[in-house]
Amino acid sequence: MFVHIPTPLLPLLVMLGLAMPSLAMPPEGSAPPPMPTYQMRAATPDGDRLNSTATAETLFSNHCGYCHLPYGMGTTVLMMRRMPMGASPASALLTNRDDLTVDYIKAVVRQGIGAMPRQTRVDITDSELAKVADFLAGGSQ
Ligand code: HEC
Repeated sequence: MFVHIPTPLLPLLVMLGLAMPSLAMPPEGSAPPPMPTYQMRAATPDGDRLNSTATAETLFSNHCGYCHLPYGMGTTVLMMRRMPMGASPASALLTNRDDLTVDYIKAVVRQGIGAMPRQTRVDITDSELAKVADFLAGGSQ
């Protein structure tokens, strides 16, 4: 049976999932689609967060990665801030920087900066932050 749908209504019905239910809903019993890769930051490490034994890379990925990995909003904002100053797009990733010091990183994380909200000791403990700051600073104090 052919049901006539007035053309101006079609986008609305598609958006509501009424015109093409098969697009809006996966078939019954099927597995959900895989997560997009940009959401695949490291899982929260187990263990004592006050004396962290996790690697700095894991801690950075887990606590900072949802903004500072590729496609994160921190990466995007830093790219927009830095490129007009002549910095390369790759330098928007904190892991590519060689000008960050431990003290600067700790101050930014605890106080926040611009569009970055401050991270409390619940978000990232002092022990975890010490590792992340050393990792990002790459030896610079
Ligand atoms: C909610 C998102 C978010 C999280 C989580 C986050 N950041 Fe940021 N970060 C930003 C944004 C956005 C900026 C750019 C701020 C601006 O310039 O307005 C930024 C900037 C920075 C800067 C300054 C870089 C510069 O060039 O001066 C440092 C350092 C930094 N973040 C470190 C971290 C670390 C370490 C963590 C994890 C402990 C972290 N951030 C977690 C969003 C985030």
